[in-house]
Amino acid sequence: METLFIKGGRRLEGSVEISTAKNAILPILAASIMCDGCVKIIKCTRYLDVDNMLKILEDIGCEIAFDKDDVYIKTGNLHKSYIKDEFSKKVRSSIFMLGPMLSRFKCAKVAYPGGCNIGSRPIDLHLKGLRMLNVKIEERHGYIYCDGRNMKPNIVHLDFPSVGATENVMMASIFLKGFTTIYNAACEPEIEDLQNFLNAMGAKISGGGTSTIVVEGVERLYSGEYTPISDRIIAGTYMIACAMAQGNIRLTNVIPEHNLSLISNLKQSGCRIKMLTNEVQMFCNKRISAVPKIETQVFPGFPTDLQNQMLVLQTISRGTSIITENLFETRFKIVNELLKMGADITIHNKSAIVRGVSQLYGANVTASDLRGGAGLILAGLVAQGYTTISEAEHIDRGYKNIESDLCKLNVDIKRL
Ligand code: UD1
Repeated sequence: METLFIKGGRRLEGSVEISTAKNAILPILAASIMCDGCVKIIKCTRYLDVDNMLKILEDIGCEIAFDKDDVYIKTGNLHKSYIKDEFSKKVRSSIFMLGPMLSRFKCAKVAYPGGCNIGSRPIDLHLKGLRMLNVKIEERHGYIYCDGRNMKPNIVHLDFPSVGATENVMMASIFLKGFTTIYNAACEPEIEDLQNFLNAMGAKISGGGTSTIVVEGVERLYSGEYTPISDRIIAGTYMIACAMAQGNIRLTNVIPEHNLSLISNLKQSGCRIKMLTNEVQMFCNKRISAVPKIETQVFPGFPTDLQNQMLVLQTISRGTSIITENLFETRFKIVNELLKMGADITIHNKSAIVRGVSQLYGANVTASDLRGGAGLILAGLVAQGYTTISEAEHIDRGYKNIESDLCKLNVDIKRL
């Protein structure tokens, strides 16, 4: 069990380079099994989730090698079209393997996926999308069996723009002769990144990052190398950290356009933010005003993956904020921990009403999921005294050495 220890009260100063995005790397790793030969992922940040995904690739026959931050995946000896239970339960992204395995083997078997403890997280949209490509799917005893021998391209209309379902349908249609069009596709930047990766390996996809994606089937994908985009959620977390603790920071390897909803909220609250090419500079020297209303939405709306961190910021802002979570129903688990630190929050259905207080206090708290854990670190930055966060391994799923990044920004934090 990992524990983080923070002494609150320091202003943020300094500069940090943002890592490549977990949510871009995971589907790219899954997609690599469709490529012949060897794929090199440059700056492949080794989050816990990424390491678990690499174990899945290894288990089905990929040869994995590391060279500093780069990962090489050789796909010549793939021999297995199913994912072991232990992996499916641990990594929700194991579900991303369905599309690529169907493309490669014309069949796939996975157990129902696990992942972050933030709600029911169904996969009906993934399965419906694959059925539209004429995949025969049977769900038996906790397993999903897919038969793709008669797969055909088609028009796939998603009932909701799910990120994972969009990615799975894209990957499943890569080798289908003809055109597959996905309507109501998710528009998240990581989808455009998956498209760019696949096109770099020989695919013909257009529209990634918009609500209509067209995949023209190709015969094969080749070897190649690719650098994934930077992680907008980590960048956003550190911007919120600066708004909380005040100070002056510079974040490099950032695509500011991927965080416009956050940046506009922070500017309205009183922060000064300069957006440059691949860089954000931020300055904050006063207690900020509350954002009266925040609702999580699909991209380009306010991201659910920054909701907990934004909620923490509101606990010390001037005024009251109502935060509504529209994507994952149990994403307010952090609230009980924040109450221990002196926050004033009440929950009504899927909204949290946060009344700003002038001070939070250090406490022993527990991370119960990835983004909530990051939120607790932010609370610790401004809390009077010491905050201890146990079960911090949840945070490691999506932040690589968060304490080392925060130390560069002048935070007094260490791993016990
Ligand atoms: C991805 C991100 C996750 C982020 C989420 C929303 C990765 C690895 N993870 O997760 O960090 O929080 O997008 O931006 O990229 N849904 C269904 N049926 C389905 C699939 C989804 O009802 O088959 C619902 C979900 O319960 C949720 C909503 O659709 O309410 C959005 O989920 P989705 O976009 O699929 O998120 P993920 O791909 O799981």
